[in-house]
This record gives sequence, structure tokens and C-alpha cells, in this order.
Amino acid sequence: MQFRRKDFPEGFLFGVATSSYQIEGHGFGGAGPTHWDSFAATPGNVVRAEHGARACDHYHRWEEDLDLIRDLGADVYRFSTSWARVLPEGTGQPNPEGLDFYDRLVDGMLARGIKPAATLYHWELPQALADRGGWRNADMPDWFADYTHTIMSRIGDRIWSAAPINEPWCVGWLSHFDGIHAPGLRDIRATARAMHHVLVSHGRAIEVMRALGMSNLGAVCNFEWTTPASDAPEDIAAATRYDAIYNRFFLGGLFKGAYPAEVLEGLEPHLPKGWQDDFATIRAPIDWLGVNYYTRKLIRHADGPWPNYAEAPTRLPLTQMGWEIYPEGLRDFLIRNAAEYSGDLPIHVTENGMANPDTQDLPDAARIAYLDAHLQAVQEAIAKDAPVAGYYVWSLMDNYEWSLGYEKRFGLVHVDFDSLARTPKASYHALARWWRG
Ligand code: NOJ
Repeated sequence: MQFRRKDFPEGFLFGVATSSYQIEGHGFGGAGPTHWDSFAATPGNVVRAEHGARACDHYHRWEEDLDLIRDLGADVYRFSTSWARVLPEGTGQPNPEGLDFYDRLVDGMLARGIKPAATLYHWELPQALADRGGWRNADMPDWFADYTHTIMSRIGDRIWSAAPINEPWCVGWLSHFDGIHAPGLRDIRATARAMHHVLVSHGRAIEVMRALGMSNLGAVCNFEWTTPASDAPEDIAAATRYDAIYNRFFLGGLFKGAYPAEVLEGLEPHLPKGWQDDFATIRAPIDWLGVNYYTRKLIRHADGPWPNYAEAPTRLPLTQMGWEIYPEGLRDFLIRNAAEYSGDLPIHVTENGMANPDTQDLPDAARIAYLDAHLQAVQEAIAKDAPVAGYYVWSLMDNYEWSLGYEKRFGLVHVDFDSLARTPKASYHALARWWRG
């Protein structure tokens, strides 16, 4: 890789990210059932119906995994706590084993000099709450606030940074409009409610954590650079709608207390009564913005009902996910998000990385080139005064890639899903050489 720590501003932080359901092994330690378990058990939803019951068995191998993070020279570890591990029924009685697990994990990070960056929700909703309508239910913010209080009263005193919800677009749109993630709905009314309740829940969790005396609280959103498939005005309008739904809706709520007109056009009739009154909660002040970035999309007009867009064929080299490699989009989002939404707040690139097929010799050249190109994009954004403060690779190790199962490998560390052996790839060694200084 071409960079060294000295090529980034003093204090710039490097890290790796994972999430609970994708690595822990949800079948262990008294965790309650989640909507990802039932979604994956329904034929047709997930490749080979794979699920997270064992995953990387991080629940039992967490010490080895934290050693890998330490030896990589990472400053920060972005992980998530599982609601259903902490509260198996979603509300009510906590699972002491679950609380103990996160307690040990956080202590394990601190003992190794790693800053714990917690996410409270990375997609595995307790089934008991899914049965009550999940994110559609207006009680979600209360349930989420209680869960936040339960887990953070236990570990919040040692958490370096925290964000309530990973990628609200995936929780709202991908899961309730596109039907690709649990609960697999394709329902505009459910979508509108989920997108709004996710933001209200975010705000409530921020308030709870502030009241507990925590600091360094943020929001992690995902972004896809959006390019119209042609100069035709209707393709440009379609791309503008896609951009508004994907890249502007949540930032609009968080930083402006308003949703973009292009989204209200479709969702307003379906938002819960009095939704405007919730912006006071949604706008609870935060300390940083997290940007998850992987790719861009080419968008064209599509006939039919709102939102009248479709993806157009790709034009650039692709990752194993079929995603275009477009580092310029990361640079431009870092600049645009600061200029139009988050101002001087520090921005952390909370996820970036690529999936590659499994290989035996692990040369990993494509991932190294991908990371290099995106770090270059971060530098360019910093040169244009974007207040970027950190960059975390997705992911520490190969893991459960949701609907796509275990085949898409994002790890710096290879995982053999039979033996569960971890083997650092060339990208891990390349990063370690300069992260360790
Ligand atoms: C976004 C998500 O936060 C993570 O769970 C997922 O595995 C990666 N991107 C790659 O798709």
C-alpha cells in the first residue's frame, strides 16, 4: 500500500468494523430469536438459506479476534451489540450471559489498547418485537430507548464512541420496500413508518446515552454515489429521486429537521400522524457523522408507480458483489455531506471495503488496490477541507453477508467456515505494516 500514518493528519484514526449477527454465532449464550433467523429460514430469502447461528463463532473466539485487531495496529474497533442477546424478548428481563459477554469484550479491547466504537442496532431485531410490527410500530423508540439504557448502563462507561443504528436506509428501505433484508416486506406504508421510526429511535437513544453521561455519539449512514444513466431529463430526475431516498433522507432528518421533497412525494401519505413533531427528538445533537461507502449506482427512469427508477447496467470494474469500484464517490460524499449537512462535525468513514471470492493463496491484490484507492479519496477530501477523522475497513474477517450468505468475503482475515480457522490475508499484512507504524 502506498500510505503511511504520517500521510494523514495527526490523530487520524484507523480501524476495522464488524457486527454482532454477522460474526458472533447467534445460537450461543442465551440470545433470543431474531427476525433474521426466521427470514433466513424462509426459502428464497438467503442464498442456500444460510444463517448466523454459528457464523464465525466469535462468541467463543473473541480473544483471538481481538488479538488480530491489536496485531493489525488498529486504533478503533467498530462492533455492535445484539439487542436479542441483551434482551432475548426485546423488552423485559436481560440475559445476564449476554451482558457479561459485552462487558468482557469491551474490557478485552481496552486491555489491548483498542478504542471500543459501539453500534446498538446492526439489523437483528428480536423476533418478539418483529411479531409486534417491528420498525412499523410507533412503540419502537420506547423499546429501543429501554434497550439502550440496559446495555449502556453496563458498558457505556468504557465505550469510546457510540452510534444507535447502522445504515438506516437498509433498515427502512431495503428491508421494507425492496424486501431484500428482514423482514422482507415490499410495502410503501411500512417503509414510510420504518424510515421515520428509525430516526426517532436514533434520537431517543442519543438522549438516553447523554443522560448516562456518555460522549462521542454519532450516526452511521450509508451512501451510494448516484449517476444518471443518460442526459435525458427523465433519467436525471430518476437519479435525483434515488439520491434523495438513499443519501439525503436521513441526513435531512438529522441535520435539517426536514425530509427532501422528492421523498415526501411518495412517502408523505404513509408517514405516521404528527411526524413533523418528532424532529425535535431526531435532531438530538450528535458529535460525529459516520459514512459507510462502497459503490455508485447508475440510475434510469422506469415507468410505473413512484419512485420511477431502475438501476442501469454497470460500466466500471466490479467487486464480487457486482458493485462498481468508484472511489471518487467517497471523496465527493465526504465533501458534500460536510458542506450541506454536518458542517464542522468530524466524519468517520465507518465502513469501506470489498468482497472477493475465496482463494487458497490469498494474494488479495484487488482488495489492496481498492483500499489504496479509497484512502487516496479520503486524502483528497481532507485536502478540500472535509473534516475526516477516521477510516475503518469493513471487515476484520470474512463473515455472514446477510441475504448473500457466506460466499461474499469482505475480510482482511480469511475464515474457513468449516474449521473456523482465521488466516490473515495479504491486505491485513499490508495495512499492519503502516498502521503499526
Ligand atoms: C454494510 C453493512 O453495515 C454490513 O453489515 C455489510 O456486511 C457491508 N455493508 C457489506 O455489504
